[in-house]
Amino acid sequence: MIGKLNHVAIAVPDLEASAAVYRNVLGAKVSEPQDEAEHGVTVIFIELPNTKVELLYPLGDHSPIQGFLDKNPGGGIHHVCYEVENIYEARDRLKSEGMRVLGDGEPKLGAHKNPVLFLHPKDFCGTLVELEQVPSAA
Ligand code: CO
Repeated sequence: MIGKLNHVAIAVPDLEASAAVYRNVLGAKVSEPQDEAEHGVTVIFIELPNTKVELLYPLGDHSPIQGFLDKNPGGGIHHVCYEVENIYEARDRLKSEGMRVLGDGEPKLGAHKNPVLFLHPKDFCGTLVELEQVPSAA
């Protein structure tokens, strides 16, 4: 069911310092910061040859990653995102297997303007999983 690894998201306490590490030390292609107000994060995209890394920084007073940073002040891996061809089929299959879909279970538009869902970390090896519908996912 799952296709490619779309991205690994890392919550960071200092966006510029983290971007500089990827840009200057690791020599990666690093985007400008992008505010995602509806998701409560500022994101920097790092393009690797086979996937992406997203640096997440809290935006606003109710950012969903603030609690994570409170527990992990130095930052850390926040979630992994896998591509699926059809997010509704994926959701229904997961629910039929007893997996917990976060929120109201309806896909929302993610940072790449594709529908996304988040799955409960306790059902997936302690890792928050994002599913993103990508038309070309195989
Ligand atoms: Co993500």
